[in-house]
Amino acid sequence: MSKPIVVFGSFVVDLTSRSQGLPVPGQTILGVSFKMGPGGKGSNQAVAAHRAGANVTLVTKVGKDVFGKVALDFYRSEGMNTDYILQDEQRETGVALIMVDEISAQNEIVVVSGACGNITDADVERCRPLIEGASILLLQHEINFDAQYRVIDIAHRAGVRIVLNPAPATAIPDDVLCRIDTVTPNETEAQVLTGVEVKTLEDARRAAQVFLDKGVKNVVITMGALGAFATDGVRSELLPRLNVNAIDTTGAGDAFNGGFVMALSEGRDLFEALRYGNATGALSVTRLGTAPAMPSRSEIDAMVRENYDI
Ligand code: RIB
Repeated sequence: MSKPIVVFGSFVVDLTSRSQGLPVPGQTILGVSFKMGPGGKGSNQAVAAHRAGANVTLVTKVGKDVFGKVALDFYRSEGMNTDYILQDEQRETGVALIMVDEISAQNEIVVVSGACGNITDADVERCRPLIEGASILLLQHEINFDAQYRVIDIAHRAGVRIVLNPAPATAIPDDVLCRIDTVTPNETEAQVLTGVEVKTLEDARRAAQVFLDKGVKNVVITMGALGAFATDGVRSELLPRLNVNAIDTTGAGDAFNGGFVMALSEGRDLFEALRYGNATGALSVTRLGTAPAMPSRSEIDAMVRENYDI
């Protein structure tokens, strides 16, 4: 079997309400529906890559509680590897409180990382052989940073390609950033990490240059309605967003990252992988939820065939 993509990140249970509009601070509004399901950016991205046909191993940590069982049951039903779903003796499984606006399809999220914010040095050491044997390491910003930096260090020393989706937006030290092969922020995260407000293609180029100057090899900035911008420092491209009927944008960035790394792992270049990411993200927003909304490989291939010349 091919070397796995290793996703080292969060699992949390998504507690999602849908309402007509979102409350402002101090306001209570009546919701339309509620759903509980598997979430967390790390887990969502691993599920997206798995459904897209990649060989994926997820490392995450859950509590010994009913929400931890939600994770294990879901991965088993998906046929995913559960060998690295670590369990915390004390901390509870994390949760995300998500409010989706049915009118705009936008959302607001509070994440409490719980067990996956408590990855210990011993946990990381247990995963060392897995990390060193990965084809790609994919990370986000929902686990504790000390563990994340150790994982990046191990992968970098082993020559593993590192893709960082810096979400939610948090600054990263330059000596960590320079080890990243590809960074995939959205426009808000790009601004936090580079200081450049990203609203136009020109802004995206300037923000990307800040990353490149810090030693990152490739930059992908997802820019909502504008599409996704990618550069390897020589070639650059703004790929327009695909036109679909969006009903829930939660997890769209995760779908993008999962489809993107799947394509990279199959040997596609940055710009082809961008197309797979874009197609995966577009399909995911046409369904409700996060992990359960991730498309299959055949759906992604059909979307790519319909829209791109590859
Ligand atoms: O990107 C969407 C995810 O962010 C949700 O599943 C939620 O868990 C938060 O982590």
